[in-house]
Amino acid sequence: MVQSLSRTESKEPLAGPAALSLVTRKGIPLLKENTENLTKAATIISEGGLVAFPTETVYGLGGDATNDDAIAGIFEAKGRPRFNPLIIHFADVESAAASVFFNEQAEALARVFWPGALTMVLKRRPDCPVSLLASAGLDTLAVRVPNHPLAHALLKAANTPIAAPSANRSGHISPTMAAHVEESLGDDIDAILDGGPCAIGLESTVIDLSTDSPTLLRPGGVSREDIEAVIGPLQVSDGSEEKPRSPGMLKRHYAPMIPLRLNAEKPEPGEALLAFGSDVSARHANLSRSGDLVEAAANLFAMLHMLDQPGFKGIAVMTIPDTGLGLAINDRLKRAVSSS
Ligand code: TXA
Ligand code: MG
Repeated sequence: MVQSLSRTESKEPLAGPAALSLVTRKGIPLLKENTENLTKAATIISEGGLVAFPTETVYGLGGDATNDDAIAGIFEAKGRPRFNPLIIHFADVESAAASVFFNEQAEALARVFWPGALTMVLKRRPDCPVSLLASAGLDTLAVRVPNHPLAHALLKAANTPIAAPSANRSGHISPTMAAHVEESLGDDIDAILDGGPCAIGLESTVIDLSTDSPTLLRPGGVSREDIEAVIGPLQVSDGSEEKPRSPGMLKRHYAPMIPLRLNAEKPEPGEALLAFGSDVSARHANLSRSGDLVEAAANLFAMLHMLDQPGFKGIAVMTIPDTGLGLAINDRLKRAVSSS
């Protein structure tokens, strides 16, 4: 089960000074949403510290993108390979445009989908202030303007771009609640800004616009169909190129501790069932009884976290259609079962 966070002031209301004294079991300050805490989080970022914060997709582990030490700290805290570059978050399009070159397609997509769950890989400007470590040796940068009031307020208050990969240990399931961050990461982060559950629940869609052929690197919160309606057909990178375009798209990723079995019709003895649709008596969890892929995406990681218990021998997942957000859901499920 997802465990709730322990609090020093367990039954106190969450406003006022009591909110400042909340800490997780690992002793990490848990900052509830208020002005004082936002200032506190922004100060931590400005001083080179790390704050996990909510976005509309998943929680990110944020650090000042212009600070080499902060970026190194993010790789360290996640156990993330240094060759895997980070997404840089900005408060608005104008500040993103100071770091990367926008082409026509990027401008069109930013107009339609920003703020939102779309990350664009673009060429770095020569005077780009973002740490080279965040790009992991590439001449490009992945940029996004998130659509979450707390994320936006934090970016404004810290007044710097914020590098933020998902706030989980490398290879594990992404966090859609503050409690997931607390479970997944060690005590080497400085605070968790708690904004409740993430509305979309799946990471952003990543597309590479730095070459002549726009390429989908990672399906995510904005569907391929919606992007193609704006800029036409996308190429799809399956990561099999000699030099993968998106170094982070390792085959095995998003993995629970216990095995997953896909396209299951029913659970075997000892297995948990992760169902989809109405015509099942789901004993354990149902991504969406009405067969709604947006609802399924929002539930995916939280339900995987919940069913990932040693008491089950595995998780049987029913078939999810491969359209709209189903593409991103199936991408995550396939990576979770991959053995390489
Ligand atoms: O929704 C999201 O995207 C969340 C929230 C916190 O914004 N962030 C996130 O970050 O999922 P992360 O680090 O877990 O995934 C970033 C992906 C990785 O697959 C990485 O390889 C790719 O983006 N990426 C980053 N910079 C890149 C670049 N310059 N070229 C190609 N791929 C890049
Ligand atoms: Mg991630």
